[in-house]
Amino acid sequence: MQQPVRIAPSILAADFARLGEEIAAVTAAGADFIHVDVMDGHFVPNLTIGPAVVAGLRPYSKLPFDVHLMISPVDPLVPAFVKAGADIVSVHPEAGPHLHRTLQTIRAAGKRSGVAINPGTPVEAALQVLDEVDLVLVMSVNPGFGGQAFIPSQLAKIARLRAAIDALGRTIDLAVDGGITAETAPPVIAAGADFLVAGTAVFAGGAESYAANIARLRGGS
Ligand code: DX5
Ligand code: ZN
Repeated sequence: MQQPVRIAPSILAADFARLGEEIAAVTAAGADFIHVDVMDGHFVPNLTIGPAVVAGLRPYSKLPFDVHLMISPVDPLVPAFVKAGADIVSVHPEAGPHLHRTLQTIRAAGKRSGVAINPGTPVEAALQVLDEVDLVLVMSVNPGFGGQAFIPSQLAKIARLRAAIDALGRTIDLAVDGGITAETAPPVIAAGADFLVAGTAVFAGGAESYAANIARLRGGS
């Protein structure tokens, strides 16, 4: 069943010189999760943050950290992000030889597991491992950068996943990541998503705008 919409600000769009304060600010502004984009300059063409930074940021919010790993090979670094304080760890099927095993490893560490599927990745990649995940992350842009335009063809993928999750009868978060704005959020929610990752749209306008930005994405105003 589709859950109430949760908002996960992507700190990729925050002020990197003040990440701790930015995380505290979106927490106070009503965010539900903190989305951390980890990129290796290899799996995706950008380089962001590692486990030491995640550990350093952990005290700045009581919200769960939703860590999106865009690194390959992913397996050797999963334990470091778990130790750093990740609550959800999401991985891409292309980032290692045995997706199912990687998801089992995340759960065995006591964390929630996520599978992230790129716009060009068939929905079957997620359907095949639904039993092993707590979250499916549909990428509505090609991963690597914030501020890209939403890819509308992913709406059909969201709808297919909604139906598959409902048929399973177990709670799995259906998250969408990339190009989420006040304009793209309503069709994404209508297609069945209940977890929106947003960077640019949350961190626009400085800290005094964050609460309104989050409420708008949730459909509050
Ligand atoms: C893209 C990242 C996203 C990104 C979203 O690779 O996974 O989380 O930061 O940024 P916006 O909301 O600006 O598209
Ligand atoms: Zn992300």
